[in-house]
Amino acid sequence: MQFTFVTLFSNLVEGYFQDSILKRAIDKNLFSVHYLDPRKFSLNKHFKVDDTAVGGGAGMVMNPQPLFDALDSLKSKNKNAHIIFLTPVAKQFKQNDAKRLAKKEHVVFVSGRYEGIDERVIEEFADEVFSIGDYVLTGGELASLVLCDAISRNIEGVLGNSDSLSIESFETELLEAPSFSKPKLYKENSVPKEYLKGNHSKIRTLKIALSKCKTKFFRPEQLLKHKITKR
Ligand code: ADE
Repeated sequence: MQFTFVTLFSNLVEGYFQDSILKRAIDKNLFSVHYLDPRKFSLNKHFKVDDTAVGGGAGMVMNPQPLFDALDSLKSKNKNAHIIFLTPVAKQFKQNDAKRLAKKEHVVFVSGRYEGIDERVIEEFADEVFSIGDYVLTGGELASLVLCDAISRNIEGVLGNSDSLSIESFETELLEAPSFSKPKLYKENSVPKEYLKGNHSKIRTLKIALSKCKTKFFRPEQLLKHKITKR
């Protein structure tokens, strides 16, 4: 699988793949990461890529020309490229999207900067548009990385143990039960006693109860969904 980041600031993105799980996955050729800088396609003699908004409004908007040419060149090399734009004005990215997109051959993330991207670029090229939440970032790079991380850990072989995928939060409506590491007693706080006794059926029952408690506290609407689907 291939990821391409279309961004004016690839240095903001590159570091994320230089360590830990995703670096190992790249070293094992499970996926590759590429960068495309729209500034390199600018026909402006100073390689300008933004301008004031037509019709008024605060801030600068990314011009259509550099992005049109960058994305045309990308599509001419790979017709199957699945192009995703990141903007706060879109539906929120979910775990199901991560699982679905992990099956694509080539996923492209287009990050806006300044006040955003000329809408005509999005209309022409977007296969999908996502927000990562109801807040505004200074650009789409962090959001692209969030999607890329969530997608890539669903690619076969990226996580050592595929069991860890099936039990985690958002795979069902319930949030994952709390986890504990050693020591069993730390600063007078013990892990739940049931976890220590080795009775796996009892541990499973307790974990489901703790999952429900956590879900009720942090995400009550998810618990409601769980109750409905269990009916
Ligand atoms: N760009 C700026 N804010 C964003 C957000 N919340 N999600 C995706 N892209 C963004």
